[in-house]
Amino acid sequence: MERVVNFNAGPAAIPQEVLEEARDEMLNWKSTGMSVMEVSHRSKEYEALHNETQERFRRLAGMGREWKILFLTGGASSQFFMLPMNYLYDGRKASYIITGSWSKAAVKEARRFGVCTEISSENPKGGFTRILKNSEVDIPVDSAYVHFTSNNTIFGTQWKTWPLVKDIPLICDMSSDIFSRPFSADGFSLIYAGAQKNLGPSGLTLVALREDFLEQARKKEELPTMLSYKVHADHNSLYNTPPCFSIYMLDLTLRWLEKNGGLEAMGRINEEKAALVYQAIDSSAGFYRNPVEKESRSSMNVVFRLPTPEAEEGFVKEAKAAGIIGVKGHRSVGGIRFSIYNACTLVDVKTAVSFMEDFKKRWG
Ligand SMILES: Cc1ncc(COP(=O)(O)O)c(C=O)c1O
Repeated sequence: MERVVNFNAGPAAIPQEVLEEARDEMLNWKSTGMSVMEVSHRSKEYEALHNETQERFRRLAGMGREWKILFLTGGASSQFFMLPMNYLYDGRKASYIITGSWSKAAVKEARRFGVCTEISSENPKGGFTRILKNSEVDIPVDSAYVHFTSNNTIFGTQWKTWPLVKDIPLICDMSSDIFSRPFSADGFSLIYAGAQKNLGPSGLTLVALREDFLEQARKKEELPTMLSYKVHADHNSLYNTPPCFSIYMLDLTLRWLEKNGGLEAMGRINEEKAALVYQAIDSSAGFYRNPVEKESRSSMNVVFRLPTPEAEEGFVKEAKAAGIIGVKGHRSVGGIRFSIYNACTLVDVKTAVSFMEDFKKRWG
């Protein structure tokens, strides 16, 4: 069977080479006579993989040893409450920059633990079509941290530069654009991301946090053990059984990234891919419509509308018949969405763009 053009929003496409390597090592990983899924997480083979993956992650992110890399579970959604549980204690407050549904979900959890100031780009009638300008981001100086979402998976908007927050610890949910472009960790205190878009399969959440920020976290005795960043950091993210297979897949994906030119190369290809889709939208004489302000457009999730609900339904159906899947917009907003993460190739995107042109000829 031919592989499809996969625009799923997450779980999402994984590079074919990575899948092939995993297949080849499935029954006998590193001459252990076992799959990596069957190996003890206390074995020297697994521990070497664990440490190497952390090192590779740091290298790609340009992070020094002062960054702790944790492999957690519970999805990015669990970070929505784990972060405030660790930092909003003894009356501490936080600030949340709201640019989409996931930042809204994050602050909803944080409010259970402390007072949160919200700075939002939500439109008066609901929905989000833009990223905030720095002049609009005014963070109270007594915030223990400020949280934002670098790419809004549902609304198709993306921060092109980071919010300026002076000396307040900056936290980012990078789930849907991590390692998609050149990146510097300077200025961040904690970054988290579900792995299932750009880093491999689901079941693994990456948390990278700086030692100086870790020191400010709540005492481990005051939290459920598994919800304390300090516990996980003190045990090198091996306090309990980690999601070994997902970590293995992350390692293969990071190797693939390094082999293919790292973040610089990935950024160039992703820009080129996104430009092709936006060009197809902008040159369609209004048949395809992207609701997002141009400078806020995402290079990862391109959202657009068609003239009628029937046309959108027809688009999804015919795309599937043409081998292009996962194009339906998030159920909360409708429309069409192409999630063109790192593993989607330029060829995939060109195939989809020529489908768009062909569809317009027939339906326009
Ligand atoms: C930006 C962002 N944050 C958080 C989440 C939630 O992630 P999870 O399903 O891993 O909890 C998603 C899921 O798509 C997302 O796109």
